[in-house]
Order: sequence, then structure tokens, then C-alpha cells
Amino acid sequence: MKIITAKNYKDMSHLVANIIIQRIRDHSELTLGLATGGTPIETYKYLIEDHQQNNTSYQNVCTFNLDEYIGIEPTDHNSYHFYMQSNLFDHIDIPTRQTHIPNGKAKGIIAECEAYEAKIQSKDGIDLQLLGIGTNGHIGFNEPGTSFDTSTQVVQLADATRQANARYFKSVEKVPKKAITMGIGTIMKSKEILLLVSGKNKRKALERLINGEIDPIFPASILNHHPSVTVVADHDALQNTVVPSSILL
Ligand code: PGA
Repeated sequence: MKIITAKNYKDMSHLVANIIIQRIRDHSELTLGLATGGTPIETYKYLIEDHQQNNTSYQNVCTFNLDEYIGIEPTDHNSYHFYMQSNLFDHIDIPTRQTHIPNGKAKGIIAECEAYEAKIQSKDGIDLQLLGIGTNGHIGFNEPGTSFDTSTQVVQLADATRQANARYFKSVEKVPKKAITMGIGTIMKSKEILLLVSGKNKRKALERLINGEIDPIFPASILNHHPSVTVVADHDALQNTVVPSSILL
């Protein structure tokens, strides 16, 4: 694992966007794993800005999102389908058929998980996966206790996750209780991972990721075993963490 220190949220977003743009320039048929939540929003803004100004093209890029709530229509403003359309896909030249998000309204939800996993593997896995981290250490919606070898699956959301995401809903009761998520095994098969961490509320999680034990109780800890993870973290998130100089980029 390597760590890039960013001054603040904007700086982190810029650094991450530049890495993604570079990978697309190097490999126009990139398979890109995408994340939702508050953290990547500004990164997506920079990707859009760059697409408009420098014509970086997504015509041949294929995307797979980490997760989606179960029971929410794709048109619902709280769905990750809606999030991706409005925060990125509507503003770049990616063909819709090359964007993939689990269908949280699928009739056969297990079959949907299996089909999603198979689609990812048919592309020979993900080239570059963006990740956020939950305050409880979740990656995707893989909550504490998830085994490290899981593939795309149905999960029960942790109370901490529903509380954290309640800011987007009318109340915490309205936050769905279940989701489909890429598994930890799926994520770990990605060739390269970029983990974005910003803000004071992520301090404890980042400290535990960098200096804690590898344990399923803190899902992100397994990233320490991945050969190519870059954490881009801002000062607010990194304060109080002693970063070994060997991993500082
Ligand atoms: P956030 O979510 O970006 O909204 O903090 C991250 C996560 O839960 O993985």
C-alpha cells in the first residue's frame, strides 16, 4: 500500500482524477470500477471538466459500480443509478451499454449477483477500482465481519452505514436495509485500487487501515495484502496517523 497526502478535499479529488485520466489515456479500453457516496463527487466533477476541456474520451471505457441499494428504483434520486447518471455519465461520452450497476430491483436478486460477478470476470476483472471507506471500515457495502473471499452478494447494511447515509434520505428509517455489493474477493481481484479518504470523520478508520491488524472485523484492512493500492488521503483524515515513511509516495 502506498499513500499520497493531499492538502484538502479539492486537492485529493484533483490527484485522483488525474490518475484516472492518465490510466484512460494509457489504455482507452480501461475497465473502471466506480464508487458512490460523498467522497468521489468532486473527482467526478474534475473528470467532466477534463472531458469538456481536453476531450478525454470514454467511448471505449467500461465501468462497474461497487454497489446498489435493494428495493430502490433506478430513477429514485437516492439510487446509485441516479447518482452515477447525474454526477458523471450524463456529462461524458460513455455509451450506456458499457456502464454497469447492480440492479437492486431485480426479481431474482441472487441471479443478479451471479450475473454481475460473471460480467466483471468476463472483462478479465477490473483494471482500476475506486474505493471509499466507511467509518466502520467497510469497502463497497461489505460490512464488518464479511469474509475476505466473497464475490458479488446481498448484504445487510450495518446500523452505522444506515446512520451515515441517512443524510440523503428523509430519515434513517427510509434508508434501505439491504444492498447488492461487489464482494471483497471481487475488489481484491482488481489490478489496481485507488482509495479516497477525506475529512476528520475518517481519521480513526484511516489510522486503523494503516497501522491496525488485518481482520475481517475491519474489511478495508485486507487492502494491505493487495499488490497495488494507492490511498489518497487529505490532511484532515491523516492527522494523528503515523504513516511509515516506506509507504509514503
Ligand atoms: P462517503 O462513503 O464517501 O459518503 O463517506 C464512503 C463509504 O461509505 O464507502
